[in-house]
Amino acid sequence: MRTCLIAGNWKMHLTPAEGGALANTLRQRIGMRTDIEIVLCPPFVALPAVADALRGSEMKLGAQNVFWADSGAYTGQISPPMLVAVGCEYVILGHSETRGRFGTPDPTFTDAILRYFGENEATLNRKIRAVLPHGLKPILCVGETLEERQAGQTEKVIESQLQGALEGLVADELYELVIAYEPVWAIGTGQVCDAPEANRVCGWIRQWLAHHFEPELGEHVRILYGGSVKASNAHELLHQPEIDGALVGGASLNAEEFEQITYCARTH
Ligand code: PGA
Repeated sequence: MRTCLIAGNWKMHLTPAEGGALANTLRQRIGMRTDIEIVLCPPFVALPAVADALRGSEMKLGAQNVFWADSGAYTGQISPPMLVAVGCEYVILGHSETRGRFGTPDPTFTDAILRYFGENEATLNRKIRAVLPHGLKPILCVGETLEERQAGQTEKVIESQLQGALEGLVADELYELVIAYEPVWAIGTGQVCDAPEANRVCGWIRQWLAHHFEPELGEHVRILYGGSVKASNAHELLHQPEIDGALVGGASLNAEEFEQITYCARTH
């Protein structure tokens, strides 16, 4: 059985005070659910306020990114032990917005900037290796752009993203990994992927994990769908057999909408 996971990615929204208030509202409404897992991923500076608001509830805390070193001369970066210290259990990695604007590095970036800030498979691989020993669970985002989908390259793109990010890791290390299938063309566009198609791709990812590592891993790892999930489409998406939850952006900023999405969630 894979416990359904609903994660709210707040992106660069809400101050600590605003985030604390939203978390408090959600805690009162859905904070004691144990049949599914609910995770809030606020901006770094709001993590302590949200952690305070969630204390004593069943809801979990996640970050939106991390650097791979534990400490050092990396101005502006946040390390895995820092996330653990403020109560994070999850961390989103490889979101298309950190991989580069909509999957393509900004052409005005120099190589030197890209080396650190243009996320790629190699930096993701370092980050995954860095967080696992700290008990942080990565939510690894993968997905194709519209051009890649139209060119029939969806599986090829996702395969290379998975291969690169998970290179050198063994099955035993990956049982707590969560994968989010987030087609780039569906993120923040209101253009949700059809539920049967999202189900098909999530199933394909599961098969890939089973084949590449071991069958039990494929059965165990949770695969979420993300991209324009709302209360109005959550039921159909979350009732697909291969979809184990949702990574919700815009709709997670609205307490009522997010609450409604969690009502559509069921563990299967
Ligand atoms: P969205 O974002 O729900 O606003 O489309 C999803 C995401 O970026 O994780």
